[in-house]
Amino acid sequence: MSKKITIAIDGHSSTGKSTAAKQLALKLHYVYVDTGAMYRAVSYFALREKLLVNGNLDKQKLIEKLKDIRISFVFNKDTNNADVHLNGENIEKQIRTLEVSSVVSKVAEVSEVRAKLVEQQKAMGDKKGIVMDGRDIGSVVFPDAELKVFMTAAPEIRAQRRYLELVEKGDDVSLEEVLKNVVERDHMDSSREDSPLIQLPEAKLLDTSEMTREEQFELLVSWAEEAIEKA
Ligand code: DC
Repeated sequence: MSKKITIAIDGHSSTGKSTAAKQLALKLHYVYVDTGAMYRAVSYFALREKLLVNGNLDKQKLIEKLKDIRISFVFNKDTNNADVHLNGENIEKQIRTLEVSSVVSKVAEVSEVRAKLVEQQKAMGDKKGIVMDGRDIGSVVFPDAELKVFMTAAPEIRAQRRYLELVEKGDDVSLEEVLKNVVERDHMDSSREDSPLIQLPEAKLLDTSEMTREEQFELLVSWAEEAIEKA
């Protein structure tokens, strides 16, 4: 049996990280964890508790209420997906809206939120054999990961992809507002003080602007096999 490793996939929003990471985990028989879903779950909680008024987050209240938040992943055999649950409630659909996307970077800035989620993420990966995607996986959650990947693509291409996904789900959004959200999130995720998104020198760069999903997957698998071989 080959040695199990840890694979950290970071990068900009809507680059196809989750799809690629999920496929890779399936191929390697590894666990896949979408950490963006965890930040989205806390954001959904904050919206539901009315902690966001006119785009302003009541940080203090959110920090006080963090103890009431329990996030878990539960396998859904109908979709072959690990759905995110908030205190036992499946909120997988509710977290994928533009409303949640437009507040999540604010919530992800709060150090206390990050500390709570990072602790849980580290525990999920303590046995290795994991593919985790996010913004700070290679830098903070698993700095010793055997394979680190940084995914990006041109903002217009990412916005177009996300727009089609949202429209397909029946969301009433315009391409302009999706592009605005992509650009704003890039800026906030990369410029925040705590655990900003950075391209680590040791990370392999995967620019998906001109690549098909199949090409991305092939490259990822070859990198993973190489890293497993070396481990
Ligand atoms: O991957 P995503 O687009 O679903 O992530 C949603 C947001 O969560 C993203 O804009 C930034 C934040 N995030 C983060 O700060 N750290 C992570 N490890 C994952 C996501």
